[in-house]
Amino acid sequence: MRWPLDRPVPCAFLFVPGNSLEKLYKSWQLGAGALIFDLEDSVPEFQKLQARKNVILALKTAPDRATPAFVRINDGSSAHWQEDISATIDKNLTGFFLPKCESREQASAAADIIEASEKNAGMAPGSISLVALIESARGLVEIPQIIDAADRLAGLALGGEDFCLNMGISRTAEGQELQYARSHLAIWARAKGCLAIDTIYANFHDRPGLMRESQIAKQLGFTGKLAIHPKQLDVIRDVFAPSKEELAEAKKVVEAFAAAQVKGSIVIAVDGKMIDRPVFERARRLLASAQRR
Ligand code: COA
Ligand code: MG
Repeated sequence: MRWPLDRPVPCAFLFVPGNSLEKLYKSWQLGAGALIFDLEDSVPEFQKLQARKNVILALKTAPDRATPAFVRINDGSSAHWQEDISATIDKNLTGFFLPKCESREQASAAADIIEASEKNAGMAPGSISLVALIESARGLVEIPQIIDAADRLAGLALGGEDFCLNMGISRTAEGQELQYARSHLAIWARAKGCLAIDTIYANFHDRPGLMRESQIAKQLGFTGKLAIHPKQLDVIRDVFAPSKEELAEAKKVVEAFAAAQVKGSIVIAVDGKMIDRPVFERARRLLASAQRR
């Protein structure tokens, strides 16, 4: 499926710990672009089963026109991942996040369980999407294989904290250590028509820091960013969603170019800047994506 063109592209994905029923219930009202109900790193082993029950309940009681919701399952080396999928599949679920994804085999094994679970639940085949979390050097170099493992793979997300752990490096505020990983992931995602979702920014009180990091990710081609706290959602949305000024500028470009095309010109000047086909096309896509949000 990749990311279906008729669905709005979410930009702020909020992690909600599965062991907090209170946060799960609250999360629908927070204005996130998408929610990720977490069964993995935010849930201690002794609460894994309770967290799964909480997530099932939250999905079953989702409000009408709810925010798209994903479940982050446990990783492939755990005893939980298969049942995490089969137990939480639901008509109110958009997809699964597959953590610590390192191979085509892992992604296609998850896709197979999703397919069987969809069938059991009487859901249309392919309706549940999959996002691979890339959190290690191996995961990063295997992206070309992972991305082709299943049609339902609709996005790649960078897990920066685990990536740095795997690399034996520290995570800095400037984020230089993630630059190559970010570029590699975003380019592959773009080449295959998938969402590219940037890593979390852990210091949720630091709004300027989050804004700076979001701008870097957007400029490298990311479509959105992971969040851990409701306070981060508006910052991410403000950076990734086009501003009023950008939309006005794009509208001007599209209208001027369309009018010029009718008269046989394909290179024109608007406000002293050259407008040719790629500039027009970027403006046209910006307007189209804004209509889908
Ligand atoms: N989802 C939903 N609600 C959240 C939330 C989240 N991720 N994080 C905070 N909130 C809510 C709190 O419940 C609180 O609600 P209230 O005002 O109605 O009581 C409000 O937002 C303010 O929260 P605050 O007191 O500032 O934070 P906290 O101490 O409750 O939680 C964290 C801080 C970091 C524990 C929490 O943000 C969190 O659990 N984040 C997600 C962690 C996670 O999933 N990590 C895995 C991915 S890396
Ligand atoms: Mg992790």
